Amino acid sequence: MITIKSVQDIEKMKAAGRVVEETLQLLERSVRVGITTEELNRIAEEHIRSRGAYPTCLNYNGFPKAICISVNDVVVHGIPGPLKLRSGDIVSFDVCATLNGFVGDAARTVPVGDVAPETLELIRVTKECFFKGIQFARPGYRVSDISKAIQAHAESHGYGVVRELTGHGVGRQLHEDPEVPNYYSPRARQRLEAGMTIAVEPMITQGKRDVWQDDDGWTIRTRDGKPAAHYENSIAITDGAPILLTCSEGIE
Ligand code: MF3
Ligand code: CO
Repeated sequence: MITIKSVQDIEKMKAAGRVVEETLQLLERSVRVGITTEELNRIAEEHIRSRGAYPTCLNYNGFPKAICISVNDVVVHGIPGPLKLRSGDIVSFDVCATLNGFVGDAARTVPVGDVAPETLELIRVTKECFFKGIQFARPGYRVSDISKAIQAHAESHGYGVVRELTGHGVGRQLHEDPEVPNYYSPRARQRLEAGMTIAVEPMITQGKRDVWQDDDGWTIRTRDGKPAAHYENSIAITDGAPILLTCSEGIE
């Protein structure tokens, strides 16, 4: 069931989204060669809690940390730990925060030190996929119009689009209806309406799109070991252009 949010609900989602955006900005400033993903998790958790919010991922279906940190071939759901970042790595942060009963959810991939130009291109195109997709995040379009635009942009660069994970509705819960795939699916035929709030999150691979899950039950990696990038914002559908709840950059 898709829930429609009131104007007041969306104000609360902006507040949760602001905490998420601040946390992502803090993480981007904190990235350096030699820092561990555990340290970055602690920086994020302290910031979220200092804003009176709760790190939604913590204990979500048993997830053991405050945020997901995914390095290189890890697509999503990496568990922070003793891994030290090295020059040439790319690192994806996926941050969720609950404030006043509403959730914000967003992700960014950033380079560490000197990163291969083709991998910087992957990061750039993954972000572009999000912005291509949300051109269709307006009443009258279907969820699958967002999906198609993301897929077309990624595949035009020869990249893979992960099938096993999707974007989703977001609101009082982290994961609500509808599913928002990053590839065309006939199931995503719901019409968008003002008051819907969704997380659009392209997960794009430099090589093949196939993934596998680590023994830890969380970490999702590319099968071919090539890097993957992730870019996500929570957005609200309005009568006009969508509101970006976790990004004050505006529509590009
Ligand atoms: N943004 C991630 C998602 O939409 C949140 C994962 S939380 C976790 O799936 F607990 F599952 F890690
Ligand atoms: Co999400």
